[in-house]
Amino acid sequence: MDPEFWRARWQEGKIAFHEGKPNVLLAQFASRLDGKRRVLVPLCGKSDDLAYLASLGHEVVGIELVEDAVRAFFSEHALSPTVEGTRYTAAGITLFARNVFDVTREDTGPIDAIYDRAALVALPPETRIQYIAHLRAIAGHATGLLVAIEYPQELLPGPPFSVPDAEVRMHFAQVEQLAEQKLESGRAAELGTAVERMYAVSL
Ligand SMILES: C[S@@+](CC[C@H](N)C(=O)[O-])C[C@H]1O[C@@H](n2cnc3c(N)ncnc32)[C@H](O)[C@@H]1O
Repeated sequence: MDPEFWRARWQEGKIAFHEGKPNVLLAQFASRLDGKRRVLVPLCGKSDDLAYLASLGHEVVGIELVEDAVRAFFSEHALSPTVEGTRYTAAGITLFARNVFDVTREDTGPIDAIYDRAALVALPPETRIQYIAHLRAIAGHATGLLVAIEYPQELLPGPPFSVPDAEVRMHFAQVEQLAEQKLESGRAAELGTAVERMYAVSL
């Protein structure tokens, strides 16, 4: 998607993807990240999952295009970040207010795990391949957790896009499905057939 699309959505407050609490599937399966020190959260928005992961003892590295979202995360959690250019840090959480494709392994430092919720599914098909290759360039063959949704794509334009189970298995070196449930919120949920899946993955 054009960066302007996302800037406009944040500016207009059209952020239905923002859950306002830790993701239920993450809370259920967070122990899968035990022992992983530094967790990368691409396309993180101002997700409460960032604070939740930090509360479990992880160092959290998030990447978010829209700087207002990054600032909102820290102010809504009553944190005063240290700011160096587009890098904001407080309480074990570092957020880069940048395009994910402009962030390198040198910027993030070593990454032990990834957590992707509403990130892969926010990207159109052609960009998803590039995105996974880029995560691999940053995080090597790190393991992690992925929340993806699937629905008949022809019924609705994304984002969020449908990323079917078969596509998930194409992107990642290893995939284990941990849970599947009916999607309960957002436009795709109104179709009545959309599902949400939690996977343990390796890049
Ligand atoms: C659907 S939202 C999900 C946010 C978050 N993961 C959550 O669960 O609330 C996708 C986010 O990715 C950001 N984004 C989109 N394209 C991006 C890019 N190329 N680089 C970094 N962030 C991007 C958007 O601004 C938006 O906040």
